[in-house]
Amino acid sequence: MRRLASASLRSPWREVHTPPASAGASTSISILGVQYPRDACTNVPPSILAKIPRGLHRVPNHPLNIIKRRIEAYFQRLNSKYALSDSLPPVVTTTANFDDLLIPTSHPSRAPTDTYYVNATHVLRTHTSAHQRDVLRLRPQPVGHLVTADVYRRDEVDVSHYPVFHQMEGIRTFERAKLEEEVEVDRIPERPAGVDITDEAAEPGGTNSVQNAHGKEEAMMVAQHMKRTMEGMVVELFGAGSKAGENGEPLKMRWIEGYFPFTGPSWELEVLYMGKWLELCGCGVIQQAILDETGNNDRVGWAFGFGLERLAMKMFDIPDIRLFWSEDPRFLSQFKSGDLGTLRFQPYSKYPACYKDVSFWIPVEGYHDNDMYELVRDVAGDLVEDVALIDAFVHPKTKRVSKCYRINYRSMDRTFTNDEIDEIQEGVRQAIVERLGGDLR
Ligand code: PHE
Repeated sequence: MRRLASASLRSPWREVHTPPASAGASTSISILGVQYPRDACTNVPPSILAKIPRGLHRVPNHPLNIIKRRIEAYFQRLNSKYALSDSLPPVVTTTANFDDLLIPTSHPSRAPTDTYYVNATHVLRTHTSAHQRDVLRLRPQPVGHLVTADVYRRDEVDVSHYPVFHQMEGIRTFERAKLEEEVEVDRIPERPAGVDITDEAAEPGGTNSVQNAHGKEEAMMVAQHMKRTMEGMVVELFGAGSKAGENGEPLKMRWIEGYFPFTGPSWELEVLYMGKWLELCGCGVIQQAILDETGNNDRVGWAFGFGLERLAMKMFDIPDIRLFWSEDPRFLSQFKSGDLGTLRFQPYSKYPACYKDVSFWIPVEGYHDNDMYELVRDVAGDLVEDVALIDAFVHPKTKRVSKCYRINYRSMDRTFTNDEIDEIQEGVRQAIVERLGGDLR
């Protein structure tokens, strides 16, 4: 992969984005001290490599850490035998990230436009589910697991999307022969009065059917346990009372049908927050093949995965996902008390925005909008608030495709000068030519 010659740019933020020495033109890529051979599939840019050591979910007083600890404490109160992990390395095999989870070879999530490939056989995990088999192989097998980790996806650029975010995977299994007793063991809190929960997809059927390996009653028992556990978690986070409802309305949640290759039946849980349904997580009854192949054929269980940023943004009124990465003390110091109930982020100031458009003819083959989004994050770093595709057209004669993107620059911690932005924009334009093979207009 070619890199922009960044040395010519002198702005202070440049230094932050200087890639590690090992990320240059060498034949290997170094991640957390391990060398991986580069090959034609390698597509992890230096800006992403630089984020890997941060481990935001382990930083004391970081909002992601506050939420993680709160959820861990909730689960340990339910059952002290949940095993916790938050430091599994982010490089996993394509087998662990996809095949082990029964994700079909044609599934779009495998595309290099969506996933960071370290090389042909290894990726930066795209979800915490990549560790399901690791933890299910442990002996003795604990009753359950919570795995918190940074996950990586190539995606759009706006206030709620960032190529690195954090997820927590929850897993709970039961001895099949003693299911009825075991689902009673956890101390799941009673549903508090006034919490409004709808579950129109309660009965599996149609596209959301019970697995052949399971009896209907058995699957429903597992699903019930999962739903009650997760509802309790939402009450724990938002408070029954609740700040979530508009004008003091009660906390509202709903279960809707979901689809994941590694669970069946599957659901998604949404919470009504300030008048909008917020998708919290995906979950379901673990595919029995996954349990069987990890030596748990005498067990059944459920799994969920949910994203921490989206939740934290709502709970603490954090308006922009880039703030999680801020090293400005004005950000972190606000979360010292760790009080979920009353803590609200006070924006230190809204700095002026400045947008720049860039138009270019895209290469005839192999171009994806995500290539452009990543390039902008890579070159301009966190000074970019969002990138929007504002126009696209096909030349009537040559059939070449032209795209115009609007890059919205806004720093989170200072005001920048026009010259600075011009210089960065020039860097973006150069990179479009050098890295994407675009033809500027
Ligand atoms: N891994 C899924 C995702 O990232 C979420 C999930 C986890 C769904 C576990 C079901 C069970 O979207």
